[in-house]
Amino acid sequence: MKKDLISITDFTKEEYLRIMELAADFETNPNQELLKGKVVASLFFEPSTRTRLSFETAISRLGGRIVGFADPGSSSATKGETLHDTIKMVSNYADLIVMRHPLEGAARYAAEVSSVPVINAGDGANQHPTQTLLDLYSILKTQGTLDNLNLFMVGDLKYGRTVHSLLQAMSEFENPIFNFISPQVLQMPRAYKHHLEEKGIRYFEHEEFTDIISEADIIYMTRVQKERFSDPMEYEKVRNIYILKNSMLENTKPNVRILHPLPRVNEISTDVDNNEKAYYFEQALNGMYTREAIIAHVMNLK
Ligand code: NCD
Repeated sequence: MKKDLISITDFTKEEYLRIMELAADFETNPNQELLKGKVVASLFFEPSTRTRLSFETAISRLGGRIVGFADPGSSSATKGETLHDTIKMVSNYADLIVMRHPLEGAARYAAEVSSVPVINAGDGANQHPTQTLLDLYSILKTQGTLDNLNLFMVGDLKYGRTVHSLLQAMSEFENPIFNFISPQVLQMPRAYKHHLEEKGIRYFEHEEFTDIISEADIIYMTRVQKERFSDPMEYEKVRNIYILKNSMLENTKPNVRILHPLPRVNEISTDVDNNEKAYYFEQALNGMYTREAIIAHVMNLK
């Protein structure tokens, strides 16, 4: 049976750990010809910089070739071709499909239609499992563990797909505590909070971005997802709601690290960049090794 990665819950905790082990191996030795002779389709129906480039670099470092598009404007989607037909055809050409799409559920649908494995590189406000695996790798590298951590998630917790997948993954580890900082209109969706309640995991919701971050091990900042708002006025009200400044990090724990999936707009002031607690650019680099690991795992190359 083919292996897809659509939601982070498609993988077990053992698989998360296996991928991190592989990522560490690719970090020491990034160029391994495991995909030689294989073709990967990279289908980006929604804009991306890091996710697409780190995937395509990962494929190149594995010796594979890439076909696809970075902009749906250059695909037959503009002529009215259905996702069904595009995927059916591409899965005849390629050995693996990496896909980003603006609609929630599009990746699952593609996996059902495709005869080759599909990796979800983000579907609307729903899931972003490959980001989560690189986030786990970044947390493990900086904290030395994935257990007993106090995670702060800040910003757009409603439309931010990265925090949805990360919450589910972290809930598989021992004794996490979640602190959600968001305006009321951008709170973590009920279903994810319910998931924590069912597992007996503690979480706290705040609207103020204050001294409380002194308890954090990880501060995960997010961008307000402008493209998901149906009313531009609603976006204007919350666009600059939380800005992390260097001075706010003074009383934080020595081990705390600031993560952000990027792109940042205004959420992290540039004066944080030189603080040793800033980790977002290293996090983006970890993405390349982690994506090599994910491909190797899904294609059973190791
Ligand atoms: C994130 C995404 O696309 O969901 N970016 C990324 O993949 N690195 C976060 C965002 O766009 O805000």
